[in-house]
Amino acid sequence: MDRIRIVGGNRLTGTIPISGAKNAALPLMIASLLTRETLTLDNVPRLADVAMLKRILGNHGVDCMVLGKRAGQNGMHGESIELRAGDIVDTLAPYDLVSRMRASFWVIGPLLARMGEAKVSLPGGCAIGTRPVDFFIDALKALGADIDIEAGYVLAKAPKGLRGARIVFPKVTVGATHVALMAASLAKGESVIENAACEPEIADLAACLNKMGARIAGAGTSTIRIEGVDRLGAARHSVMPDRIEAGTYAFAAAMTGGDVLLDAATAATMETPIEVLRRIGAEVTPTNAGIRVTRNGGAIAPVDVTTEPFPGFATDLQAQLMALVSRADGDSHIRETIFENRFMHVQELARLGADIHLDGQVATVRGVAKLKGAEVMATDLRASVSLVIAGLAAEGETVVNRVYHLDRGFERIEDKLGGLGAEIERLTG
Ligand code: EPU
Repeated sequence: MDRIRIVGGNRLTGTIPISGAKNAALPLMIASLLTRETLTLDNVPRLADVAMLKRILGNHGVDCMVLGKRAGQNGMHGESIELRAGDIVDTLAPYDLVSRMRASFWVIGPLLARMGEAKVSLPGGCAIGTRPVDFFIDALKALGADIDIEAGYVLAKAPKGLRGARIVFPKVTVGATHVALMAASLAKGESVIENAACEPEIADLAACLNKMGARIAGAGTSTIRIEGVDRLGAARHSVMPDRIEAGTYAFAAAMTGGDVLLDAATAATMETPIEVLRRIGAEVTPTNAGIRVTRNGGAIAPVDVTTEPFPGFATDLQAQLMALVSRADGDSHIRETIFENRFMHVQELARLGADIHLDGQVATVRGVAKLKGAEVMATDLRASVSLVIAGLAAEGETVVNRVYHLDRGFERIEDKLGGLGAEIERLTG
C-alpha cells in the first residue's frame, strides 16, 4: 500500500494547478444516464473515485471513452471523456459497487426517471457518520415513485414515469438535491425544490442539464424550479474547478508561509474560506488567473469557525482548518454541524503534537509552537489531507499511510505540492 513521506519545514512558493471538482464530476458523470446521446465532459480530474464511477456506470451500459491529449496539454490538465448510455442494460446497482462510494447511490434518480425502475443497494456505513438516504426516498416518492426497501436494496418503480411535484427538504442535502434535479428533469410537469442545497456543484450540474435540454431555473439558490421535458440529448460541459482542493492548498500555504497562486481557482465559490484565511493572517488576492495566497512571517491567529451548508464554511475543509490552527497563537474553536462523526483526524493530529480537545461537536484547538513529524493514517480523504498539511509544517519526517484515501480526491498531490517546493514523495508498495 502506498504511503506519502514528507519532511516538513519548507515554505511553499509558486503556482499550483487546481483540478476539476470531484464533487461536480461525479454527479455530472451520473447525468449521462439520462440520455441515449453522448455527454462530453472536459476538465475531469484523474481520481480514484472517478475511475470507480466509470466502472459503476459501465455496469449499467454506459460506454466511456477518454479523448486523446490535445496540443499544449500536460499531465496536470484534466481529462476529456465521452459518456454514452445508448441502452441501459441493467438498472441494478449492486452492493459491492455502491458500498465503495456513497455517491454511486445517486444513479437511482436518472435510472428511475429514464427506465421507470431502479434497484440500488443502500450505501452502508461510512467513516464520517451514518449518512442515511431518507431524503432521497421522500423526494422520489413525491415525484410519484413507489419505493420498497428489501434486503439492503432500495427498489424504486414508476412504470408510468415520474410527475412534477413540490419537494421540501427538511435539511440541506447535496446528494438528494442532485438526485431530485436529475429525476425532475424527465418528470411530467413542473417541480419545485425548496430548501435545496446551494453548493456551486449543484449549479454546475444544472448548467450541464440545461445544455442537455432540461429547463431548470434557480440552481445555486434554495428554490429550484424544473419544468420536465420528454427527453434530454447530447451536450459538452467543463467541470468547475475544485473549491475544496483549492481551499486545501490555500490552507497549506498559510500553514507553511510562502506565496502560492492557485491556478484556475474561483473566488466566488470560496468566499467563506477566504475570509477565514484573512482572519488567520494570510493575504488572499483573487486575480484573473486564480487566487494568490501569501503569508510572510507573522503568527497564525486563532479562529472560531462553524461548518455550514454553502455559502458557509464547508465541512470538507474542516480537518484542513484544524491542522492549520493547531499552530495558531491561541485557542480556536471548530464546530462541525454537517456530519456527527467527522473528527477522525483529531487523534492523528495529536500524534504530531497538536493539542485538541473534543467536546461533542466542538473541537477546541490549543495552538502549539511546533509540530513534530510522526507516522499517521486516516480513514477519509479530507482527514488524510489534513495530516499532509500538518506534516508540511512539522519538524522532521511524517509518513501518511493509506494513501488511497488521498487518491480518491486529490490528483497527484505529491507532484503538486512538490512543485511548490515541499519535500514530499510517494513510497510505493
Ligand atoms: N442526510 C440525511 N438523509 C439523507 C441524506 C443526507 O440525514 O437522505 C444528512 C447527512 O447524514 C448529513 C447531511 O444530511 O448529515 C448532509 O449530507 P449531504 O446529503 O449534503 O451529503 P452528501 O451528498 O452525502 C456531499 C459531498 C460530501 C460533502 C457533503 C456536504 C459529494 C460526492 N459528497 O455529500 O463530500 O461533505 O455533500 O457538503 O458531493 C468529500 O468530498 O470528502 C465529501 C464527503
